[in-house]
Amino acid sequence: MSALAGKVAIITGSSMGIGKATALLLAEKGCKVVLNGRNEVKLQKALSTFQNAGHDAFAIAADVSKWDSCEMLIEKCLEHYGRLDILINNAGVSMRGSFDTLDKEVFEKVYGVNVYGALYPSKIALPHLKKNKGSLIFISSLAGLKGIPDLSVYSSAKMALTAISQSIRIENAAAGLHVGIMYVGFTQNEPGKTTIGADGQDQLLEKRSEKFAQSPQQVGKAVVKMIERRRSRQTLSFAGKIYAFIIQFFPRILERINILVQKRMENYYK
Ligand SMILES: NC(=O)c1ccc[n+]([C@@H]2O[C@H](COP(=O)([O-])OP(=O)(O)OC[C@H]3O[C@@H](n4cnc5c(N)ncnc54)[C@H](OP(=O)(O)O)[C@@H]3O)[C@@H](O)[C@H]2O)c1
Repeated sequence: MSALAGKVAIITGSSMGIGKATALLLAEKGCKVVLNGRNEVKLQKALSTFQNAGHDAFAIAADVSKWDSCEMLIEKCLEHYGRLDILINNAGVSMRGSFDTLDKEVFEKVYGVNVYGALYPSKIALPHLKKNKGSLIFISSLAGLKGIPDLSVYSSAKMALTAISQSIRIENAAAGLHVGIMYVGFTQNEPGKTTIGADGQDQLLEKRSEKFAQSPQQVGKAVVKMIERRRSRQTLSFAGKIYAFIIQFFPRILERINILVQKRMENYYK
């Protein structure tokens, strides 16, 4: 039997994509999972997949960028399952556009979900996670390792998660809390996935080539392993590991390549 059997996990932003795949893998290990997202219809559709497979799952619609919704999310989980062992801060949204073209709404939306949407649930869940010597996981991105052109606000939001996770890990080491951060690379998206355009409005993303992207299941498996082995940080995919190595040891070369590639892209779009 898995060590995760009987544990209660909240996975924010789990009505689709990486969050849903991770929740399904945890449920297969015997975890009781709380699904979350803002859109009730999407959430109930995801919940039925879990219930049809015989898993113990519960869905709570809540916007994690709002403190009161996060309080409600944790309270309802405790009411329903009586405990909380794992919180995966997965809900996130990306953006597109060079910094000079961005509407300020982009800042608010991207920081709202990616930063406050991780801070609020973590703060509210912390006493419960500590009580059970549980796991607090942050889903970051390769964009959180170095600022990427056209992703400035998203990169900085994901970088914030590095500092948050490091501080919480040190502060709670004596209490036995496990804190992990996962740097996720290019991942296949579900139909309907959106990003935020420079004007601050939602934009539908095209389906990505499966050749260059990991599947949400591959990411989910790595997250489950991170919890089981109580790892503190991991960078995903072979290309991602090479990228992280170059950032650490050859940052100037990478920056020059970035500038060259960006110039070529600009010429291409002229
Ligand atoms: N996909 C990639 O290539 C990639 C790469 C690196 C890192 N990541 C990170 O991995 C995580 C998951 O990405 P994904 O591609 O699986 O995302 P996705 O397919 O776009 O799904 C996002 C999920 O989050 C929910 N969500 C969005 N805003 C929310 C909010 N304010 N409150 C609660 N739920 C919210 C969405 O449901 P509702 O819309 O109904 O709220 C949905 O369930 C994100 O943190 C992302 O930054 C992804």
